[in-house]
Amino acid sequence: MTNSSFLSGTTRVVGVIGDPVAHSLSPGMHNAAYAAQGLDQVYVAFHVLPERLEQAVQGIRALGLAGVNVTIPHKQNIIPFLDELATSARLIGAVNTVVNRNGILIGHNTDGAGFLESLRTEAGFTPEKCRVLILGAGGAARAIGVQLALSGAARVDIANRTVERAAKLAGFLSAELNVASAAYGLASLTPALTEPYDLLVQTTSWGMAPHDDVPPLLDPEALHPHALIADIVYTPQETSLLRAARERGCRTLEGLGMLVHQAALAHELWTGQKAPVAVMYTALKEQLARRR
Ligand code: ATR
Repeated sequence: MTNSSFLSGTTRVVGVIGDPVAHSLSPGMHNAAYAAQGLDQVYVAFHVLPERLEQAVQGIRALGLAGVNVTIPHKQNIIPFLDELATSARLIGAVNTVVNRNGILIGHNTDGAGFLESLRTEAGFTPEKCRVLILGAGGAARAIGVQLALSGAARVDIANRTVERAAKLAGFLSAELNVASAAYGLASLTPALTEPYDLLVQTTSWGMAPHDDVPPLLDPEALHPHALIADIVYTPQETSLLRAARERGCRTLEGLGMLVHQAALAHELWTGQKAPVAVMYTALKEQLARRR
């Protein structure tokens, strides 16, 4: 249980808005970071229904919240109610972090950058000039694809169950970010096609608990043994894709890192301080262990 005795008239308030939101792991991660750094700040969850979103955003200004995280289903719908967008949020077309700068609300997206930070710090992977295959074409795929393109990837290809969605995202990446990007249907991926990639990023909900007893969406045997295999699903911590990749001897990257690093980047936007990533990791793992 969080010790709330430090709360006072000066405590800055941030939080997360979503529907549903009670399951959020973010309050635990952020409050652990504030406690570790002795910050006079608290993070709470706000259950905001879609029809109340505009009022909730007005509430951020009216109550003087320092900012909020934004989760499903508001990440795109919040954009018209904000004052400014950071470049990555504009390109991704979704906001996961709002900063309140003296009443001016600025939308950021730290999801893609959080993934890149996890890639760099946990896998030692440099995205410059790399060839990437992303599985999935939803919001997470777009955030990661945009950030990889901004970070200098040579090629960001998209494979999706529905090939039309893959084509839409690949077309956007090549037109707006000038990165080579091809689209495939998941079913049409052959080993000859997948062998050249340096990095595979699994962004769909496939393999997420409780439906985790499934074969991988793509057999890692089809990839080069030096490829890094990343999955953004974090329950279970090791998905069937990551397990198969590990058994093949491939390097793997778990989804927890993206979750922690998107939070760490939000922390830095709100506080101007480097986030205590190790503390946030511990808080996240403790919460997940309690849920098991
Ligand atoms: P998010 O914002 O989390 O990325 P989303 O926009 O709903 O979520 O996208 C979900 C992604 O998971 C899509 O790429 C979806 O494929 P389709 O576009 O074909 O629907 C993919 N996905 C979901 N369930 C899947 C399944 N059972 N098999 C393969 N892909 C699946």
